[in-house]
Amino acid sequence: MKSSELKQKYLDFFKAKGHAVIPSAPLIPENDPTVLFTTAGMHPLVPFLLGQPHPLGKRLTDVQKCLRTDDIDEVGDKVHHTFFFMLGNWSLGDYFKKEAIEMSFEFLTKVLKLSPPHLAVTCFAGDKDAPKDDESAQAWLKQGIPKERIAFLPKKDNWWGPPGTAGPCGPDTEMFYWGSSAPPPKIFDPKNKNWVEIWNDVFIQYHKTTEGKFLPLKQKNVDTGMGLERVTALLQGFDDNYRTELFWPLIQEIEDMTGKCYDQELVSMRIIADHLRAAVFILGDERGVVPSNVGQGYILRRFIRRIIRRMKVLGVNSGSVSLTSILARKTIEMYSSEYPLLKEKKSFILEELEKEENKFKKTLEQGLKEFDKIAAQGKMISGKDAFLLFQSYGFPLEMTQELAAEKNIKVDVVGFKKEFEHHQELSRVGAEQKFKGGLSGASAETTKLHTATHILNEALRKVLKEDIKQRGSNITPERLRFDFNFERKLTEEEIGKIEAEVNRVIKEKLEVVREEMPVEKAFQSGAHGEFGAKYPSRVSVYTVGKNYSKEICMGPHVKNTVELGKFKIIQEESSAAGIRRIKAILEK
Ligand code: ALA
Repeated sequence: MKSSELKQKYLDFFKAKGHAVIPSAPLIPENDPTVLFTTAGMHPLVPFLLGQPHPLGKRLTDVQKCLRTDDIDEVGDKVHHTFFFMLGNWSLGDYFKKEAIEMSFEFLTKVLKLSPPHLAVTCFAGDKDAPKDDESAQAWLKQGIPKERIAFLPKKDNWWGPPGTAGPCGPDTEMFYWGSSAPPPKIFDPKNKNWVEIWNDVFIQYHKTTEGKFLPLKQKNVDTGMGLERVTALLQGFDDNYRTELFWPLIQEIEDMTGKCYDQELVSMRIIADHLRAAVFILGDERGVVPSNVGQGYILRRFIRRIIRRMKVLGVNSGSVSLTSILARKTIEMYSSEYPLLKEKKSFILEELEKEENKFKKTLEQGLKEFDKIAAQGKMISGKDAFLLFQSYGFPLEMTQELAAEKNIKVDVVGFKKEFEHHQELSRVGAEQKFKGGLSGASAETTKLHTATHILNEALRKVLKEDIKQRGSNITPERLRFDFNFERKLTEEEIGKIEAEVNRVIKEKLEVVREEMPVEKAFQSGAHGEFGAKYPSRVSVYTVGKNYSKEICMGPHVKNTVELGKFKIIQEESSAAGIRRIKAILEK
């Protein structure tokens, strides 16, 4: 079965069971300082798991683009990836353990036709925070999974979340399939590597607080996740995800380019294919970022640099040809029928890759020479030297570690981090001095525009329709940009009415008040959050006037609307299907 067929079967199955099919959220979450990327299908659904009603109901299903960097060191084996697709289904306070397990079992055995005697499951063993999950075990027994194939494991194995330090989480039950041609042993031993994990049903019934307490949630939810790559491989009889159509054409392209054979260069080729696909999807995301030295941009930069170094290991010195853009073309070709945005952003993706590749190629050669010099001196690469390689030659720490490991030497990671922090401290002081010197007066402007954004959000609901939701926001010192759900172009009259409404509120001299509260209370009090955003357990809520607008937001905002000046819309356009974009300014 092809991966596209697996996706379709999954969505169809859950649709038939009353689930609304929702689109994948962007890979890059907005207004969420706790994570850089969407790491699981549940991530964009956190407000709904905490009780905010979802516009499409209590049963949802999707295929989510995900990216996890904590597994980056594992990439190079047969099954680990940074970027991957997660099939998922959710119950938001609707069905719970019994039904979730029934549906999982039915999908695996009736739709995918996996043989029940090849299945095994794990359940949560219980501890001081939550009891043993007998309910799940009973549900599995009822499906015909024998006792010997049910293992109870502690929190480290059978508990999922929260994705950050605090948030929704709960016990889970994981499903395994016997992936060897030898007959499966009667008794399930989860340590036996032939048992391949294929699916995870999480029962989100707790809220972990920042103090580490597990409080029961009012709403009991189900959150499941199945790795598309792994299950596709299993269904196609491979034990190596890279042999499926999700990677194989890319591997072949790498073979062509290098003149080397996959079987002899497994690790390098897998790293190149994995990181390349991740880089293409980051650049091609709805909220794509470019390579840089911070946040998501730095992760992207590390992926690209690691690809180039690995290409060099395979003996390719591209000269003036951009290797990454050749591979990216292939990736876009493979994925664009299902992810048309990649095609739309093709030239941007290729250009950015090429730019970054050229930048790094200039320093790689010299950096490698410097590395050899340092490595020849002794057994350990000092923090200072690792930082020099990072600072002057653009070597991400893990690249230095990788190079060092190849020579059997270690890197002083703690020393590197100290150097790094020391350097950051120096540049922070530098930035503050610049600020004091009046070179950067931006923050007052952006603060005003931020408050104007809240008022605009409410004004749109008042003028256009009640169910307008924020779908994106970006503020520069010059203007605000605001995306929201609306099907058609706004008329001149509507634009005039929106401007008038915002200016009316400004003139009313309304106070802007900030309060802090648990996220559940914030939603109960009617505060708006961004569609698809994930929030920490305690949030700040900004209210304009007595009750004009109430939003969960990190701020900062002005104290009184009168500070804003005159609001003016300078542009109104389409941003994506069903999404409009407004740009507006504040005049003195
Ligand atoms: N959120 C769960 C996971 O990522 C389903 O495994």
